[in-house]
Amino acid sequence: MSDDTGALQAAALERFIDAAKRRHGLDLSGYARASLQRRVQQMAERDGHADIDALSAAVEAGATQVDHLISSLSVPVTEMFRNPSVFSALREMVLPMLASWPHITIWQAGCATGEEVYSLAILLHEAGLYDRCQIFATDFNEAALAKAQDGIFPARDARMWSQNYQRAGGQASLGDYYHAAYDHIRLDARLKANIHFAHHNLVTDGVFCEAQLVLCRNVLIYFNRELQHQVLQRFRDSLVRGGYLCLGNRESIHTAPAARDLVAVDADARIYRLASS
Ligand SMILES: C[S@@+](CC[C@H](N)C(=O)[O-])C[C@H]1O[C@@H](n2cnc3c(N)ncnc32)[C@H](O)[C@@H]1O
Repeated sequence: MSDDTGALQAAALERFIDAAKRRHGLDLSGYARASLQRRVQQMAERDGHADIDALSAAVEAGATQVDHLISSLSVPVTEMFRNPSVFSALREMVLPMLASWPHITIWQAGCATGEEVYSLAILLHEAGLYDRCQIFATDFNEAALAKAQDGIFPARDARMWSQNYQRAGGQASLGDYYHAAYDHIRLDARLKANIHFAHHNLVTDGVFCEAQLVLCRNVLIYFNRELQHQVLQRFRDSLVRGGYLCLGNRESIHTAPAARDLVAVDADARIYRLASS
């Protein structure tokens, strides 16, 4: 791609961002440009527009619903016990400390289609903590949230998820937590009892709840540094003293102002703790 083409595409992307904000109040200005550019381009092609400007014109004209924009642009890729070593670290280092609170509130931000929060529910169940937990699982993608709420997943994924579960130190068999039927698995209703799924936009909405654990993995990578810092501050403000924050493997608190108050518990697993005084 020549410099000129790159500059034209970048300008078209900015016009699209303006259109989404003007028409729907959807603020994409803090998203990292390279990945957003790819997804907007793919959306334009899928929806039959000649280019990004034609898509922007459709957005301006009100021909594109905000939920369609969000579900087309977000990346709800996830899996159960993704990065199993992180779940082992949560099991070994965080859950024993959470046990000292009589009631445990957990905010899982960017839950996508729910596989991660159900993994967490299994972990809490095996640690004997599930019954005193309330878990808020949030995302701004309504279509993903609806799937998460259903808790029904393709059976073809279950084998890999079982391996992840075993690597994460699972105490039983993953099959104990779901019912298989035809080509789907349905997660056990007892895992859902204390999970509340809710719409929340990390860019524009405030602190969601006061929590002992905030888990937000593989979401900040889509944001630019300034937005990452804002969102990390919101997570820091959500934590009770001594509470934990867990980020994705490619994310860190490194240069964020919120890092002043957080100490690494396990740097590899990206687990941090809010200083208790
Ligand atoms: C790659 S998935 C991560 C899923 C899961 N946390 C994991 O690590 O497997 C990223 C999720 O972030 C959500 N997301 C992106 N921007 C968001 C925002 N501004 N507010 C809330 N959720 C957002 C997307 O909808 C998507 O479901």
